[in-house]
Amino acid sequence: MLLGAGLVGLGGALAGCSTAAVPYDADEAGAVEQPAEAAPSAMVMPSASAMPTRTRRAEVTGTVLANVREIPVGGGKIFAAERVVVTQPARGTYRAFSAVCTHVGCILNQISDGTINCPCHGSEFKITNGAVVTGPAPRPLPRKQIKIVDGKVVLL
Ligand code: FES
Repeated sequence: MLLGAGLVGLGGALAGCSTAAVPYDADEAGAVEQPAEAAPSAMVMPSASAMPTRTRRAEVTGTVLANVREIPVGGGKIFAAERVVVTQPARGTYRAFSAVCTHVGCILNQISDGTINCPCHGSEFKITNGAVVTGPAPRPLPRKQIKIVDGKVVLL
C-alpha cells in the first residue's frame, strides 16, 4: 500500500512534472521563436545600423542643391528649377535668395561683379544681401534658408 501510494505519489509528481513541463515547453517554444524572430532582425542589422543615418537624414530635411565647391567665392550659382540663388560673398559665407526677380517675376540668370542679374529689364541685386543695386526691381530678393551639411548646400 505504501509502495502503491509511493507510486501514486511518484505518478503525481511525474504528472506534476509533465504538467509543469507543458508550460515550460510552451515558454521554451516561445523562447525559440524569439531567436527565430531575432534572426531576421539580425539579418536586418545593416538597416538597424543604418538607423542613425536615417536619423541624420531626418535632421536635414531639404533639397541638396550642390556641393559647396560649386559656389564660387565672390559669386554664386542660380538654381532655376528650385528658383533659388546661392552666393558666397566671402569664403565660407553662404547666402541664398529667391531667384525670382521682384519686378515682374523673371528668373535671374546671371551673376557677375557682385550682383545677381535679371535678363528681362536689367535689375541687379547684391550677392551679399539681395538688395536692389539697379532697378526697376522695387524690392530686394527674399532670403531663402540653406544649411551646409557634409559639404553640401541644402535648401531647407
Ligand atoms: Fe526682372 Fe523686370 S522682371 S527686371
